[in-house]
Amino acid sequence: MARFLIHGGRKLFGELNITAAKNAYLPILAACVLCDDKIVLHNYPYYSDTESMCKILECLGANINKEGFDLVVDPSTISSWNIESELASQVRSSIFMLGPILGRFKKARVAYPGGCEIGARPIDIHLAGFRKLGVKVSERHGYIYCDASQMSAGQIVLDFPSVGATESLMMASVFLKGETQILNPAREPEIVDLQNFLIKLGAKVSGAGTGKIIIRGVERLTGGDYDPIKDRIVAGTYIIATAMCGGDVTFKGVKAEHLASLIDKLDKTACKIYAKGDKIRVQADGKPLSLGKIETSVYPGLPTDLQAQILALQTISKGSSMVCENVFESRFKHVPELVKMGADVHIKDRVAFVRGVDKLYGASVSGMELRGTASLILAGLVAEGYTTVSGSKHVDRGYHQIEKELSVLGADIERVED
Ligand code: EPZ
Repeated sequence: MARFLIHGGRKLFGELNITAAKNAYLPILAACVLCDDKIVLHNYPYYSDTESMCKILECLGANINKEGFDLVVDPSTISSWNIESELASQVRSSIFMLGPILGRFKKARVAYPGGCEIGARPIDIHLAGFRKLGVKVSERHGYIYCDASQMSAGQIVLDFPSVGATESLMMASVFLKGETQILNPAREPEIVDLQNFLIKLGAKVSGAGTGKIIIRGVERLTGGDYDPIKDRIVAGTYIIATAMCGGDVTFKGVKAEHLASLIDKLDKTACKIYAKGDKIRVQADGKPLSLGKIETSVYPGLPTDLQAQILALQTISKGSSMVCENVFESRFKHVPELVKMGADVHIKDRVAFVRGVDKLYGASVSGMELRGTASLILAGLVAEGYTTVSGSKHVDRGYHQIEKELSVLGADIERVED
């Protein structure tokens, strides 16, 4: 696995176009199972997670071609309702396939999903939703078996606004006669993007982004083309990098409203942010002030997927802070590695207590999961001397050539093959 070699101390300047959202592309790829005709998805982001989902689609029988940054999916040849463990275990989003497979075949055999090691990642909310729609679900030997021959429209109330469960149940309901309601759904922008994609293909879905999503059954979905939204977490990562390093960077393509919680926290404490439409300009002197108490939460609150990056920022911010991780139960694997670089952080349960230090020092650190590895790269950008960050396969799941994107802005970072 490759490592990143970073020489800290550079400010960041310039412009960057943000790549498509991983967490929009993944459910949209799953939704292709519901269609018979060709689908063209634009600005394909070449993350390893989206590549894994393409492999799953091909295993189900779909034909996939890449024409530059266009992904052409022909789902008409899909004939399987099985997802084997070696594929399913690579990504969390394999479980999102359950809904569309049930929608198309009324049966499924899917292995348990994989995904970042940030907690137990149960699927009880997914399965409770399917059972509410009349699906017979059994679990044995690491596989989920579903008989949806009696699946019918109904009302589902999610115990927790799970992103994946919301998306999978939306897709499962597309062909159900009558009206299906999902109450207490996740409200992330990626859910709205999935709704917009489904509507473009002929589905009748409304309410995404609110407390009630309504799906009215249709006979079939047509093909079409679609350009998924840009990645608010990638953009948020680089906004935080600019606040840490200092400089002046404009990010293009991502909707500022999708990052309102982060912008509200950082503006005038860690940097100055000028946000309008799909342009976000960040000016920073590299001397951020502490953000005080940080609470991650479901959208529109502060995203858990930016917690590790915000924590890296707090380690060099003037003052003390508390970072509370309220969504996942073990999402602090980056902390011991930041401490190796001189950070002053203590964990108690789901709270990280941070005291800002004047500087971090280059060290050899290990990334253990996607966003934690990104946060170690950010720390390396400001640390004195050289830092090596292992774990490229983690960060490649959700960033496309992160070292190239940061180099474009002036960072001294390269990917070194082991
Ligand atoms: C999606 O994961 C994202 N992944 C995650 O992004 C993101 O952190 C998460 O939503 C929250 O926003 C994709 O979209 C591919 P959840 P998902 O179901 O769907 C508990 C990244 O870095 N839960 O909303 O798995 C769960 O344990 C990744 O890009 C149950 O208890 O998240 C967690 O504590 C990481 N039972 C909480 O809900 C269930 O059946 C939120 O999980 C499902 C979830």
